[in-house]
Amino acid sequence: MTQQKATNITWHEGDIAREERWGALNCTGLTMWFTGLSASGKSTIASALEQALVNRGVNCYRLDGDNIRFGLNKNLGFSAEDRAENIRRISEVAKLFADSGTITLTSFISPYRADREACRELHHGAGLRFIEVYVDTPLEVCEQRDPKGLYKKARAGEIKGFTGIDDPYEEPRSPELTIKTAEKSLEACVEACIDYLVEAGAIRPA
Ligand code: ADX
Repeated sequence: MTQQKATNITWHEGDIAREERWGALNCTGLTMWFTGLSASGKSTIASALEQALVNRGVNCYRLDGDNIRFGLNKNLGFSAEDRAENIRRISEVAKLFADSGTITLTSFISPYRADREACRELHHGAGLRFIEVYVDTPLEVCEQRDPKGLYKKARAGEIKGFTGIDDPYEEPRSPELTIKTAEKSLEACVEACIDYLVEAGAIRPA
């Protein structure tokens, strides 16, 4: 739990209600949170989904683990504490994007259940939908893919505290959606996400 540090600050409620904004802009905001091992396919699915949604004229935006660590979270590493702070900050950013009326796609390993649950609570507390998508790809498959050669380095002891090797990944207990990338094509994975969003009433059927 991060403590409030600043004092003498006052919340300023704006003049535009969320419904007014979403109605005028014809959009629906929510967060679709992809979690899973490195190389499980989170970023690949989120990117393809982003393209599919934009093709339909849906306002969406992607927040990617590796990319965010080049900017907003460049001062964070991979200790348990830093990973928690990484997810806390992105939870807040995702909440803002969702509130603005954006379908927000996040792809972070987010290995700790408590951090993902805190993100869920944050969204629900703000009356926003949070859809946890478990990209359930077996470690062996991720390790075989190893697009960045990181598993190889971790096995060789050149990277310490690598998720799935010598750092934990806590599987979601009841995700809204589970995607098994080892058994499905990328198109089918994207379709499952689109179907979910249609059924949830967040986007219109094609
Ligand atoms: S998280 O655990 O804090 O959610 P995040 O998704 O931001 O991680 O970043 C994970 C990415 O950082 C991986 O896909 C990989 O490219 C890279 N990485 C570098 N070191 C590690 C590590 N020790 N554990 C996991 N991923 C790492």
